[in-house]
Amino acid sequence: MTSTAIAHPNIALVKYWGKRDEELILPATGSLSLTLDVFPTTTTIELTGEKDDVVILDGAHLSGSESARVITVLDLVRELSGRDERARVTSTNTVPTAAGLASSAAAFAALAVAAAHSYELDADARTLSRLARRGSGSASRSVFGGLARWNAGVDDETSFAEPLEWRGPELAMVIAVVSSARKSVSSRNAMRRTVETSPYFPAWVESNAVLLDRMSEAVTTGDFTAMGELTEQSALRMHASMFGAVPPVRYLTASSVALFDAVAALRDSGVEAYATADAGPNVKTLCRASDADSVVARLSDAMPSVEYVVAHSGRGARIAAEEVA
Ligand code: DP6
Repeated sequence: MTSTAIAHPNIALVKYWGKRDEELILPATGSLSLTLDVFPTTTTIELTGEKDDVVILDGAHLSGSESARVITVLDLVRELSGRDERARVTSTNTVPTAAGLASSAAAFAALAVAAAHSYELDADARTLSRLARRGSGSASRSVFGGLARWNAGVDDETSFAEPLEWRGPELAMVIAVVSSARKSVSSRNAMRRTVETSPYFPAWVESNAVLLDRMSEAVTTGDFTAMGELTEQSALRMHASMFGAVPPVRYLTASSVALFDAVAALRDSGVEAYATADAGPNVKTLCRASDADSVVARLSDAMPSVEYVVAHSGRGARIAAEEVA
């Protein structure tokens, strides 16, 4: 049986940064994101008669810790399905890998869906979200389309994402691709370093939980302004917690900061736009879909050297094609 799944990256409006359990990937706080309609990852799984799993990403064989993460998810699916065939996993990203554009979120959401299908595991969305989480925390959210909240939970069973209904205006995310170079510190290591050494980490955890409650309320009431303000606050507080690490973790570059300023200037001129950034220098600007073109035009004026991609709310991870060998 060969199964192919497709998934899209998500961008957190309330960030996930820091784990309380590294093995189970339980986060220190809950988070909330928008799944996009750009940069899909397609993953095909073929069950083989070989004795080892094979993992190929964008044409290159993975080994060591990179393939270990994939094999962890495959092992969990094998355990749940009671089967033990090895798999050949072939994954193709359309976003530069590890550049802070959430490629791992799309990749592990696609992996969980493709693996459950290949091993004929009858998994509900919650189980798929928990499986994706074991590959990469943020992937728990890409199982769902649109807005999703990952509830931190207290154990494996209770830590999963769920979709949220948005009653506000149609959303867009303008992605400013400052750099597609691979990041110097992986988010996994940077996160660990922040947890272990930043004196601001406890304050981040405490305040982000409050932001999540407020964001959930803003989603329920369809309050775009509150959503935007909370989005910027969560992003800046996350980066502040990283600045306090030893040695510091600094993903934002001069261009990223200039983009945050340009977004603030847009707001001053009456266009509601709010900036966020993840484990990389790229800045994503949340705005109403109806304002996306003017946001691109204005940001291009301020920062002409940057490439802009407009994304909207996208679909959750799903099976793209199947064939029985
Ligand atoms: C900054 O999900 O990549 O994008 O669980 O260690 O794989 P691991 O981390 P990952 O971290 C994403 C961090 C972030 C914020 C977010 O997406 O919430």
